[in-house]
Amino acid sequence: MSDGYYSNSKKCDDFCHKFCGEKTWAALNMSRVKCFLRGIELRTCFILFFLIPLFIVSTYLHGQKISYFLRPLWDSPPKPFHIIPHYYHENISMETQCKLHGWKIREFPRRVFDAVLFNNEVDILTLRWNELYPYISQFVLLESNSTFTGIPKRLIFAENRDKFKFVEPRLTYGMIRGRFKKGENPFVEEAYQRVALDQLLKIAGIEDDDLLIMSDADEIPSAHTVNLLRWCDDIPPILHLQLRNYMYSFEFYKDSNSWRASMHIYQMGKTRYAHYRQTDVMLADSGWHCSFCFRHISQFVFKMKAYSHCDRVRFSHYLDPKRIQDVICRGANLFDMLPEEYTFKEIIGKMGLIPHSYSAVHLPSYLLNHADEYRFLLPGNCKRDSNCSTCLVKQ
Ligand SMILES: *[C@@H]1O[C@H](CO)[C@@H](O)[C@H](O)[C@H]1NC(C)=O
Ligand SMILES: *[C@@H]1O[C@H](CO)[C@@H](O)[C@H](O)[C@H]1NC(C)=O
Ligand SMILES: *[C@@H]1O[C@H](CO)[C@@H](O)[C@H](O)[C@H]1NC(C)=O
Repeated sequence: MSDGYYSNSKKCDDFCHKFCGEKTWAALNMSRVKCFLRGIELRTCFILFFLIPLFIVSTYLHGQKISYFLRPLWDSPPKPFHIIPHYYHENISMETQCKLHGWKIREFPRRVFDAVLFNNEVDILTLRWNELYPYISQFVLLESNSTFTGIPKRLIFAENRDKFKFVEPRLTYGMIRGRFKKGENPFVEEAYQRVALDQLLKIAGIEDDDLLIMSDADEIPSAHTVNLLRWCDDIPPILHLQLRNYMYSFEFYKDSNSWRASMHIYQMGKTRYAHYRQTDVMLADSGWHCSFCFRHISQFVFKMKAYSHCDRVRFSHYLDPKRIQDVICRGANLFDMLPEEYTFKEIIGKMGLIPHSYSAVHLPSYLLNHADEYRFLLPGNCKRDSNCSTCLVKQ
């Protein structure tokens, strides 16, 4: 680009020199105007041949960044949640726990249904189901042979089903065929799959007053949170769960702003599976949201392509395994994006790398009990396998 600038400006100089240097009557009579004009010409050339192309190129390369950075100007933050303080210690009774939240204890716990749309998060699903296992009546899982973005996908859960034998008696599995509509907004396919999940919940036998967890597979409520909500009466009928946000593994703790997961007291004909904001109340510190917590680099690549925001893969080098590995180890952003925040203070505060965390305290118990197998999720183990035995995309 600097080359372009140089040659352009050189042409300009020649042009100006010729123009200003000619001893015409006009030049002689208007020597002051001449120099003034030369100034204009130079400035105009500079703008035409340097600033405008620079602006176009940088808008092309960084348009998304510019618009994210200016977000405080064009977008206002959503209404803040009303956050319910969360009280917990292993050594306090359920009665005391309920009481601390202003709730009463029930005579028997509610049944709990855990429903997820599955993409390719085999390892994180293992952590999730082991964490929740003691308290879940039915695990409901739906997978499609299409990603939200309409890419054909293998039925990863079906292929790995034998790894989940421990839930088999409590599992309702559904498969839905993709519609493969070209050029459609990914949110349409996502909505379609969520409607199918509503049907699957009915097949699983959900009834009024059962508890339903609505969350993505990688949004894991902690076991004690689910236990609290199934044992207490007078809990809000819909409650968002505030989760700790992690990226790539539990080494990179980002913030506590994950709010999409929610808990519902099921009402036939009224409760609809959703993943957006449904109420203003949220229970604090209710679990973990581990984004892109994959074992194999190929899973990152697949997820980046299958993601609803696949427009974020603006350059094919984003999918280069070497780059992805480097990004994971540094705590950088896979899509080279700015933080999605609503104030300049927060944007600037969160720019750059996610700091390393050395804490493995209060993580899912299955992870620590099987640390050897899941080492890649623990601090200090950012290197991933590049080869993947169960590669995901149909090539
Ligand atoms: C747990 O609670 C019991 C009774 O309240 C107490 O005797 C015991 O020391 C507590 N244990 C811990 C580890 O705090
Ligand atoms: C998706 O699954 C349906 C039903 O099993 C099947 O008919 C269809 O061919 C599959 N599509 C792809 C692209 O795998
Ligand atoms: C990659 O695959 C090869 C052959 O399948 C295997 O020998 C090697 O250990 C694998 N590498 C890693 C890092 O798992």
